[in-house]
Amino acid sequence: MEKFAKVVPYKDTPLSKKTQVKIMFNKIARTYDLLNHIFSLGIDKRWRKKLIHYIRPFAHGRILDLATGTGDLIFYLIKLKPEKIVGIDISENMLSIGREKIKKKLPGYWEKISLQIDDSENMSFEDASFDVVTCAFGIRNSENLNNWVKEVYRVLRPGGIFAILEFSHIKNPIISGSFNFYFNKILPFVGRIITGDRAYYYLPESVKNFPSGKNFTNFVESHGFKTLKTKPLSFGIATIYIFEKNK
Ligand SMILES: C[S@@+](CC[C@H](N)C(=O)[O-])C[C@H]1O[C@@H](n2cnc3c(N)ncnc32)[C@H](O)[C@@H]1O
Repeated sequence: MEKFAKVVPYKDTPLSKKTQVKIMFNKIARTYDLLNHIFSLGIDKRWRKKLIHYIRPFAHGRILDLATGTGDLIFYLIKLKPEKIVGIDISENMLSIGREKIKKKLPGYWEKISLQIDDSENMSFEDASFDVVTCAFGIRNSENLNNWVKEVYRVLRPGGIFAILEFSHIKNPIISGSFNFYFNKILPFVGRIITGDRAYYYLPESVKNFPSGKNFTNFVESHGFKTLKTKPLSFGIATIYIFEKNK
């Protein structure tokens, strides 16, 4: 895989990327959902729906949602009527907002859904314990991408599905010019005013320094997966990847 720089949220600290990411999401948890929908003009909802559309044909009894944050993807995953959804995250504040949202908006589903603190790079689950693993806008925050993908391989059953929604690199220079102005200049500026944090500076930097397209699929394939689908969304601002764990 092409080499990418390791990008951290805060530059003037010796803390590991994982700890910095946890601190950052704990700090911005309260405004996360609102800013997400405003900054994406609501398009993120369409992207999440599309991800569900691609998972639907596969057996999806037990679903694990990595880096679940405030649980946004869970509201779509529940429509698949799985036996169980487990959402994990390293940020307690993100999860506690997720729990409040689920209690309020999905009261009847509380027994089916569990949100817990866990690290995607070192999970507490047994081998082959899930049919589907999902991850929306989380894997880019990995401290060690190798460990993240290896852990997904371990907890998925053979033939299980790994479905990812992540920002990607736009190929069209006309679109990327105007989008990048918005993403690199306007969004961080407004994000800082609202959150008081540099999270929205970290966002475009982390996207730029994370593999996308073939670069990413080659990497995941090298860990024992087969690529079933790569679907760029909205001119490639984001991409859905569907992988199958080799049988
Ligand atoms: C951009 S948010 C995405 C949240 C949610 N999936 C969504 O679509 O809105 C990224 C999340 O990844 C979590 N995260 C980062 N590294 C993680 C790790 N190693 N294990 C679990 N969660 C992690 C962060 O705490 C944060 O909540």
